[in-house]
Amino acid sequence: MVLILDFGSQVTQLIARRVRELNIYCEIKPYNDFVVGEDVEAIILSGSPFSVLDEKRLYLELSDIVGRLPILGICYGAQWIAHYYGGQVQASDYREYGKAKLTKIHGADAIVKDIDLGSQVWMSHGDTIKSLPDGFELIGGTEDIDVAIFRSQSDKFEKPVYGVQFHPEVTHSLQGSQLLKNFLVDIAQLKQDWTPSKFVQETIADIRQQVGEDEVILGLSGGVDSTVAAALLHAAIKDKLICIFVDNGLLRKDEFEEVMHSYKDMGLHIIGVRAADEFYEALKGLKDPEDKRKAIGKAFIDVFEREAKQFPNAKWLGQGTIYPDVIESLSVHGPSATIKSHHNVGGLPEKLDLKIIEPLRALFKDEVRRVGKEMEVPANILNRHPFPGPGLAIRILGDITADKVRTLQEADSIYIENLKSTGWYDKIWQAGTILLPVESVGVMGDERTYEKAVALRAVNSLDGMTAEWTPIPYELLGKISSEIINKVKGINRVVYDISTKPPATIEWE
Ligand code: XMP
Repeated sequence: MVLILDFGSQVTQLIARRVRELNIYCEIKPYNDFVVGEDVEAIILSGSPFSVLDEKRLYLELSDIVGRLPILGICYGAQWIAHYYGGQVQASDYREYGKAKLTKIHGADAIVKDIDLGSQVWMSHGDTIKSLPDGFELIGGTEDIDVAIFRSQSDKFEKPVYGVQFHPEVTHSLQGSQLLKNFLVDIAQLKQDWTPSKFVQETIADIRQQVGEDEVILGLSGGVDSTVAAALLHAAIKDKLICIFVDNGLLRKDEFEEVMHSYKDMGLHIIGVRAADEFYEALKGLKDPEDKRKAIGKAFIDVFEREAKQFPNAKWLGQGTIYPDVIESLSVHGPSATIKSHHNVGGLPEKLDLKIIEPLRALFKDEVRRVGKEMEVPANILNRHPFPGPGLAIRILGDITADKVRTLQEADSIYIENLKSTGWYDKIWQAGTILLPVESVGVMGDERTYEKAVALRAVNSLDGMTAEWTPIPYELLGKISSEIINKVKGINRVVYDISTKPPATIEWE
């Protein structure tokens, strides 16, 4: 595998994604907390918001790793290599940010194999490498900077050290993946054999070894991650996996029945728990979004604990944690500041005194989908939009009642069905309907009405961190609006949300 040492760049995750796209396994570790195990075959040093000239620079002792295996430094990583070995890195008054062209390529090193002269690369740096240390040679430059790609001379270290000033991991570096492939496959000689089917085989074997004859309990949500986790655990231990799916009364219309049906088709040992009233009771009178999240999290733990107690032989709690959650908790910056507390059921494993098993810990979201496809998880679950744990409770602004939930479910179902029947559902990353706490005047027949409004939201995004609103055609919006107003009692107005994230968020609460 490839070890990626993170110096805190915003785009370190992208390095991992590009490496995985080459079917090579990699892991990200903080630059100051890692071990180079037997399985590590190459190291990549990431970029950083810091400067190597700064007092607060992030110091990595290169002599511990250089020479043992091939190394590629990106941006800060490259500057640190140059600085560490005595080259000159100079501060600059301005930041070179954006596209540049690789206009100079000196010689024919393996790192630039199949990379065109003039190839577009993406820069984001303040400092510049002015001169290389002894024993290093220049390979490429742009119009603006001489040192864009360099390497150690072949007799300098046992294994080569490369540096690139630009960011090959960003898609604006049009041949960036080729450069990473040159480094990993041609230079470090890694095999491109990390595929979904290999992951499935290895994970099933690992699960069997880890849990032995024990039973595992898993909470299912109807979402992709927990379902794929269930498919893997079930393939490994069959009916020793006990799945629990809680109807918290905050799901979409008919979702509980449909999802239970799919789970049964998958052959899972599944227990469906109807607990809507318990959640409505816990939510009574609560208006603040964080209070609602907490109440739902607590109610979920109570219900889950009660059900789990029926399986005293269970020693493990399965979880659908995926790699971005793991990286966030390891970040050199520490876990990022909480804007919304998304992880709603922390504390559950301790409470139940269970060990945790997380078969998807190493995967990005798109990889989870590929594994799910490999395991023949039903398409209606794999292609489902993300849906928040607290469900419709954070799409009903203000306090929650069973009536409001029903109203929103009806409106939302009309919206989603229309997106599905027109092919828009699969083009949108996430869509949902929000019940607003306002009443406005309308006219229905000869009657004056004074009823609620709903907002429709649809966004395109890669990972939910940033999002663009989706330009759904006016005609379709018009059709959905009339259908909702005509069919859903209590709604006389529909609006469309055209806010991007940031500064708005995807959910309204
Ligand atoms: P925001 O609203 O923060 O949403 O832009 C980003 C993504 O996270 C989902 N989300 C949640 N998921 N529990 C969850 O499991 C939550 O409390 C929660 N809040 C937001 C949201 O649906 C979107 O996909």
